[in-house]
Amino acid sequence: MNKKFFITTPIYYVNDVPHIGHAYTTIAADVVARYKRLAGYEVFFLTGTDEHGQKVQQAAGLSGREPQAHVDDLHVRFKELWVRFNISNNDFIRTTEERHKKVVCEILQKLYDEGEIYKDSYEGWYCMPDERFWTEKDLIDGNCPECGRPVDKIKEFNYFFKMGKYRDWLVEHIQNHENFIQPKSRRNEILGFLKNPLDDLCISRPKERLPWGIPLPFDDKYVTYVWFDALINYISVHGHLQQIKDSGFWPATHQLIGKDILTTHSVYWATMLKAAGLDLPHNIFAHGWWTINGQKMSKSLRNVVEPNHLIDQFGVDVIRYFLLREVPFGLDGDFSHKALIGRVNSDLANNLGNLLNRTLNMLKKYFKSELPSIDAKGEEDGPMIDKSREVTGAIDQLYDELAYSKILTKLWEFLDAANVYINDTAPWNLAKTDDGKKRLATVLYNAAEACRVIAVLIAPFMPETADKMMKQLGIDTPVEKQGLDSLKEWGWIQPGTRTHQGPQIFPRIDDKAAAKILKEVNIGGEAPSPEKKAEGDGNGQITIDDFMKIDLRTAKILEAEKVKKSKKLIKLKVDLGSEQRQVLAGIAEAYEPEQLVGRTVILVANLKPAKLMGLESQGMILAGSDDKTILLGGFDGDLPPGVRVK
Ligand code: MSP
Repeated sequence: MNKKFFITTPIYYVNDVPHIGHAYTTIAADVVARYKRLAGYEVFFLTGTDEHGQKVQQAAGLSGREPQAHVDDLHVRFKELWVRFNISNNDFIRTTEERHKKVVCEILQKLYDEGEIYKDSYEGWYCMPDERFWTEKDLIDGNCPECGRPVDKIKEFNYFFKMGKYRDWLVEHIQNHENFIQPKSRRNEILGFLKNPLDDLCISRPKERLPWGIPLPFDDKYVTYVWFDALINYISVHGHLQQIKDSGFWPATHQLIGKDILTTHSVYWATMLKAAGLDLPHNIFAHGWWTINGQKMSKSLRNVVEPNHLIDQFGVDVIRYFLLREVPFGLDGDFSHKALIGRVNSDLANNLGNLLNRTLNMLKKYFKSELPSIDAKGEEDGPMIDKSREVTGAIDQLYDELAYSKILTKLWEFLDAANVYINDTAPWNLAKTDDGKKRLATVLYNAAEACRVIAVLIAPFMPETADKMMKQLGIDTPVEKQGLDSLKEWGWIQPGTRTHQGPQIFPRIDDKAAAKILKEVNIGGEAPSPEKKAEGDGNGQITIDDFMKIDLRTAKILEAEKVKKSKKLIKLKVDLGSEQRQVLAGIAEAYEPEQLVGRTVILVANLKPAKLMGLESQGMILAGSDDKTILLGGFDGDLPPGVRVK
């Protein structure tokens, strides 16, 4: 098999050190790259740094250095962090490298020769931090519509790429390729944007204003606009145009980005590729943004959310797991230390760690740490083994959808099944009789194989943990060599294998340690500072930061049915754009299920799931009520599912 798979992250600006938002995209891409390698693909996983443009030039100026010295120094911070996070990128591209600059020039020259680029005078409002021109009508209160900062009026001659003429073609491409932009809500956003005329793209900056960039090959008084330069990294890594086509790694399977850079990717990049005669990526996935303990990320918080610091505190795999488990990919999320500690204790220590620990304990106690062979099969074996097959089968599709939290939920279903298997077979009772002992061998063999299966399956998310588990199970073959093929038949692990119980892979964070961590990040326990009081909680008022902790989303009702034996509850299936959820709503006395399907309502999307009448409710729908009436909240027009309500 020689299936090729190319996955990319954005290339990060080196105007500052990396933060958890950068780590998020890179870890997400790494997980898929690792999974695809396990599945036998030839994977090319690319990340890198965006080193030209105004932001970088300014940052270099502030540090009192030449831009080249600044980027040579800062890009290392990204490289080092990716090593710490166990990122398995195959290449790291820098836009100041010759190999990149050559391809940018090749493409610029080609488009210029073919009449796709022209020179014109331009007058517009320029946002320096975003490096974008805006028209008068785009501005909001005279400021940049994207970042809200002041803009400058600039008139100058520049070069333009004829982007506007590709609008109809692009709309058609998006409509014909459902997966081209994901999640769906973002795709609709771009289709909405393309309802307006599409301007041509200014692709140059006069050198006298901004010298830090790649000179245009046909006019050295100008440098290339940083986005036109940066986007080309995704192909320049493969070489010149013909090499890109021959590499087998273009088009990319997935291009992962944050939601703020969707237009540049799905419009600028797509039309640039079209003009250059190259195919479009199969999928551009725009993920949401992280806040930290309910607050926007800011430099003053860097000490506690600095990724290296988080790794020191919790370990690499905990952070990798948490980021992808906590929030469905595509939605915004809050990095809460409390939630993180909760996940470590429940999912990792109690569930995963416990399965390995109890299995190895019993192997030691009953078989002197030597894996027995299957002897007496029993009726409990089937369901657990079937579950392993079901989960292994189901996740492949979920990987294609980049549905990380769903994948992990599925894997934990298998973990639960394995823990239930041990509880139901009760090895400690089997050990008491001779007949029981035969069955005991089978049960502990199966438990060890279950540990191996789960180690292979979690390896893309938690590579270090998978290795530790293999070591304790006494398996020398690396996970990569075992591959997903080793999960096809139950029973890969060899009887006779000598297990080596080691330290707990995920020790619990006890209350004292948790309180210490929370104190460090200033949550809970502490009295609010006087400024905080004045700001918010003096007379029952909350701050905007408090409010923003509630993740309100538009949700479209797909299915509705009354809950049996309940007068009030209706069970709903709702679409959140990037995922579907089951929600229970106490509205059965006011609405018939048929009235609800198709409506768009407001969902509290980050509410902890709760069980009502034995059914899980994954969120809460907003409704108003007095003594007589209950009415669902909604909108007086159409909004796609998954949109944030503020
Ligand atoms: N250099 C451009 C990308 C060029 S790609 C050809 C850039 N760089 S960036 O460093 O500013 O941001 C890189 C990525 O980090 C973006 O996808 C952005 O969405 C993401 N994040 C920045 N802050 C973030 C959060 N707070 N949360 C999640 N991701 C965030 O844009």
